[in-house]
Amino acid sequence: MKKAFYILFILALVACNHKEQNKKSKEESISKEEPFQLYQMSEMASFMEKMYADHKRIKSQIVAGEKVDTLNFEPTKLFYARMTDSTDNDIFYQEKAKLFVEYEEQLIKDSLSQKEIYNKAVNLCISCHQIKCTGPIPRIKKLLIR
Ligand code: HEC
Repeated sequence: MKKAFYILFILALVACNHKEQNKKSKEESISKEEPFQLYQMSEMASFMEKMYADHKRIKSQIVAGEKVDTLNFEPTKLFYARMTDSTDNDIFYQEKAKLFVEYEEQLIKDSLSQKEIYNKAVNLCISCHQIKCTGPIPRIKKLLIR
C-alpha cells in the first residue's frame, strides 16, 4: 500500500501534472525522504521546488511587515538548469524567465512596494506555467498575497 502510494506520487511528478491534494502535508513530508531518490528529478524541477519553498518564506516575511533582502536561490539558474523536457526551453520560456528574474532582483532592492513586486513575480510563475506545466498552478496561486 505504501509502495503503491510512492509509485503514484512518482508518476504524478513525471507527468508534471500533479494536482494539489488535501494530503499535501503528508506528501511533502514523504517527498523529503525516499521518492525523490527513486525518481531522478530534473535539475530544473528541484530548482523550482527550492524557489517554491523560498517564496513561502518571502510571503510570510512580507505579510509580517518585514523587509525581504535576500533570495535563498540563484534566480539566473532559471536560464540554464537542465529540464525534464529540453524542448520546453524555447523563446517563450526565456522571455518569461528573463522578466521573472528582473522582478526577483527588483524585489530585494525595493523596500517600499515589496508586496506588489512579489505578486508580479508570482504572477509570472503562473503565466509561464499556464503554457509549460499546468500541474503546480493551484499550489503556486497560494503564494500570492491577497
Ligand atoms: C519561465 C517559465 C517558468 C517560471 C517563471 C516558473 N516556472 Fe516552475 N516550472 C517551469 C517548467 C518548464 C517546469 C518543469 C521543469 C522540469 O520538469 O524539468 C516547472 C516546474 C515547476 C514545479 C514542479 C517541480 C516538480 O516537483 O516536478 C513547481 C512546484 C514550480 N515549477 C514552481 C514554480 C514557482 C513557485 C515559480 C515562481 C516562484 C515558478 N515555478 C516559475 C517553468 C517555469
